[in-house]
Amino acid sequence: MQLQEKVLKAHDRQVRLASILAKVGNTSPIGRFLRLIVYYLEAAVMLRNWRNFLYIRKDNIGEKFFAVDQAVIHTSFSEVKKLMQTQPQLRGNDLGIIRILAPSYLLNNPLSLGMNGQEHQGARALFSEALPDPLEVSELLGELVNQNLADAAKKGELHIGNDLPEMLIRILHRLVFEITLTEEEVKASKGFVNDIAIASLPNFVVKYLLAFRTAPTIKHRQHLIERYKQSPRWAALLETGSKYQLNEHQIGNTLFDMIHIAGTAGTSALLGSVIGVLTLKEDIRNHVISEVNTIWNNQETFNKYSLENATLTEKVILETARLYPPVRFVSQLATQAGEITVKETKCPFQKGTRLIGSVFTANRDTNRYENPDSFDITRDFSDNLSWNSHGHERICPGRSLSIGIIKTFCLHLLQKYQWQSSTEAKWDFDNVTAVTPNDLVLQEFTQKP
Ligand code: HEM
Repeated sequence: MQLQEKVLKAHDRQVRLASILAKVGNTSPIGRFLRLIVYYLEAAVMLRNWRNFLYIRKDNIGEKFFAVDQAVIHTSFSEVKKLMQTQPQLRGNDLGIIRILAPSYLLNNPLSLGMNGQEHQGARALFSEALPDPLEVSELLGELVNQNLADAAKKGELHIGNDLPEMLIRILHRLVFEITLTEEEVKASKGFVNDIAIASLPNFVVKYLLAFRTAPTIKHRQHLIERYKQSPRWAALLETGSKYQLNEHQIGNTLFDMIHIAGTAGTSALLGSVIGVLTLKEDIRNHVISEVNTIWNNQETFNKYSLENATLTEKVILETARLYPPVRFVSQLATQAGEITVKETKCPFQKGTRLIGSVFTANRDTNRYENPDSFDITRDFSDNLSWNSHGHERICPGRSLSIGIIKTFCLHLLQKYQWQSSTEAKWDFDNVTAVTPNDLVLQEFTQKP
């Protein structure tokens, strides 16, 4: 069967399921079971064709449609923005489109994304305590980035998919906990990030059937959290968390996820995409090089002014985040029942249904962006959705740090390093993997004399 036919037929099944759920309820045991079946059936197609899946449904059904576990996916810029800005937001333990069904993989602590009320406020307070202002730590950040790039230069290459996540893991542990991980710990942390989708399998599969693969990762998570407790910053973090009745287990686990899932996966993907854009687009690369040269010519050392003055580089980062958003989907739960229109017929959805915002399609919506597929740094970025929009309780708390880290990389990479050639930067819009040119390699990568 052709992909289009398959994707549309599967939507007919969703529509039939909508009327069954209206009768049996979507949180009754039978309702939950039926939603789980469609979740896995749809995931099997979507994981291999995610962009086509979205556009086939959008073009043939409308801007809102059912997908995965009878979630309602919103695709337009205005609808996704509205969803993001809903306050307060009711959440389930979901990572975008992925439902976390194996809590054992996360040591039975929900993601902060899935927390509500006081627990979520406590997690947010922890994030603002833990994440430094990049301007205040710019010198340390410069040293850490330079050290990581110098190590890549010793190997003679910079591999986007392999090296950047490891670099981010090292850097974020230093910035947040002032600890240096061993190379073994860095590799184990990267394994955790790469395998996170495993947590979407049923708990007994993850805990028992796949134990040969998951047990070492879970052990590593326990081990690192013990190390966090030795950090000079632990006492202050504990004090902040305790104000919101969070215990040591919740604090350690929440910060582990902040560094690994949110920080490392998001920032390494965006940094990789920025490097990809710089290798592909000569005009953009030349503009950035010229800004980088000006910044370094006016100062001896890297400091907060280097970050503040990198304004054109910042626009390149924001436009890259629009075209290649590291977080493709954001998810929340409907607080009341509603309806969506499918081919002029109203279809019901129940309270508790997941409402998903598709950041990728929103960022390329022709009603918001002229020539949305072209790279244009003169756009208005004030309502950029890639960090979960602006001005509400759920925006990404790592926004300014991630932009500061990526600027620091650009400023060092283009000033102090060189490469003779690179493989072609390609983004995979079929298979669900990090939104970044994973296979891009900067070859014969060395420090400039
Ligand atoms: C230093 C790097 C980063 C850190 C430490 C970080 C941290 C976080 C944390 C802890 C959350 C959860 C907030 C909550 O539960 O209320 C979050 C949410 C989010 N982050 Fe980041 N982040 C980083 C980089 C990025 C990047 C590079 C992007 C994309 C360009 C991004 C996009 C998002 C989005 C869209 C959400 C909302 C997800 C949702 O609500 O489902 N983050 N981030």
